[in-house]
Amino acid sequence: MTQRERWASRIGLVLAMAGNAVGLGNFLRFPGQVASNGGGAFMIPYFVCFLLMGIPLMWLEWGMGRYGGIRGHGSTPGMFHVMWRSPIAKYLGVLGLFIPSVILFYYSYIASWTLGFALLSALGQMPEVPQQLDASRSPAEIKQEVLQPFDSFLKDYVGEGSQSSGRSAGSLLLKPRVFAYILFWVVVALNYWVLARGVARGIELLAKVAMPLLFVLAIVLVIRVLTLGQVVPGGQTPVDGLNFIWEPQWFIERGGREVFVLLDPQTWLAAAGQIFFTLSLGMGAIQCYASYLREDDDVMLTGLSTTSANEFCEVVLGSSIAIPAAVAFFGIMATRDIAEAGTFYLGFTSMPAIFSYIHYGQFMAALWFLLLFFAAFTSTVAMAQPFLAFLQDEFRIPRQNAVGILVALWVIGSHVCIFVRHAWQVMDYWSGTLGPPLMALVEVILVMWIFGGQRMWEEMHKGAELRAPRFFYYASRYVTPVILIAIFAGLVYQKITGTNEQTGLEGMPAGSIGVWIARGTLLAFAILLLWLIYRAFNGTHGDERQSGAAEAK
Ligand code: ALA
Repeated sequence: MTQRERWASRIGLVLAMAGNAVGLGNFLRFPGQVASNGGGAFMIPYFVCFLLMGIPLMWLEWGMGRYGGIRGHGSTPGMFHVMWRSPIAKYLGVLGLFIPSVILFYYSYIASWTLGFALLSALGQMPEVPQQLDASRSPAEIKQEVLQPFDSFLKDYVGEGSQSSGRSAGSLLLKPRVFAYILFWVVVALNYWVLARGVARGIELLAKVAMPLLFVLAIVLVIRVLTLGQVVPGGQTPVDGLNFIWEPQWFIERGGREVFVLLDPQTWLAAAGQIFFTLSLGMGAIQCYASYLREDDDVMLTGLSTTSANEFCEVVLGSSIAIPAAVAFFGIMATRDIAEAGTFYLGFTSMPAIFSYIHYGQFMAALWFLLLFFAAFTSTVAMAQPFLAFLQDEFRIPRQNAVGILVALWVIGSHVCIFVRHAWQVMDYWSGTLGPPLMALVEVILVMWIFGGQRMWEEMHKGAELRAPRFFYYASRYVTPVILIAIFAGLVYQKITGTNEQTGLEGMPAGSIGVWIARGTLLAFAILLLWLIYRAFNGTHGDERQSGAAEAK
């Protein structure tokens, strides 16, 4: 067996893993979820899910990754194969290739928007805004006036069509700006460069540069936002924004009726979904990075350090930028509307609009988008790595060639997202919302019940400087699967009760051709992956794999 790559240093490993987890989820998705799910009240289900699922699953994925890596497998088909001697195990592992790769298709395009907006902000190419805010107008009116130009700007950028572009807002094909398309290729080229350099010289080096920069940028932005003061005469302050996030609102209006946040399944689904997304759990990405550990590398303490770094970026930094800034400008009610209008509304529309009213705002807006770009970049390489590892480990394809194959497939998938209306939202539904809890359920049953809970517990503690409280053993063996099954029941319930005739399964317009093209792309990709797994495990290396499985017994 050829020697697999390894992380070069412990700090590099922690930063790379933190880079894997810290992403757009921390600075865009999290504040949006908090604001639309009852502020401080949301933090209760959030921390419950973090404790009962986030931490145990993180350890489990690290343990599993190291176990697979030592046996020559960096992706879940191979890992599942050596942990469960059943012909179907490797095929279940398809989830750990499908989910990160599909996330990569659309996430990389969104990452390119952040880079594009950073450049446009720095060059002063963002829309003009009325310079005097009229204090006699309501926050909602101010919001309408200030945000409208930025909303149209974003729609034109991605080619969605707006009144100003004169393009129909309903046509099948999108027509992004040439600049947006070029920036997508810039992001692909940057990723190509990092991935082709390998784990230690590429991914680890990127993390060592990007993560400290990201912390500095985030802290600068937090300080600037929290010192904004009262921007609109008689309006609110960033501190009101912090209060809004941290003070529980037990009852909120949802679907035209008042609900108790903690008893509404939607809140719990949102909290669980956020934990998966932000920690990159149930995606195959953590297992893959962990497969480059050495046999005696610590899993427990380093795993916990990564998790803590992510939570610091999310709960402390992520909650102190976009929402406090929006509240200072638009007030609490309007901020809730902004958050509910979607993750991008908050990040790409409200933030640059706000910055255009403050001193050095152009510069601050560029920093904001640069922060998002660094966060996204360290996550795109993490989403790309499982498929690369699969090609390298299971087909013995040299890294350079494997990167070429990956990029070819990636570019095809991304083009569907770039040019077909609703495509990326459909992909996000299957791989970002449904995929991770499904994958987590499969792996928790496979590891804690089939492979053996006690065996994995001992496996995780090999070389560990930290012994986890036994509580987490019981949590991952009993509580996590129950919560995961409840999440699925909740998603089904939500679909049955929440679907109306206009929207389909993914919340997109029913019967839209774009939705069907995206679904077709996903199906074709899943079939391709299953075929590749079949080829890998029944081809020339099949005998070697069987002996690997036997060794695991
Ligand atoms: N964990 C990554 C994020 O938060 C995917 O964006």
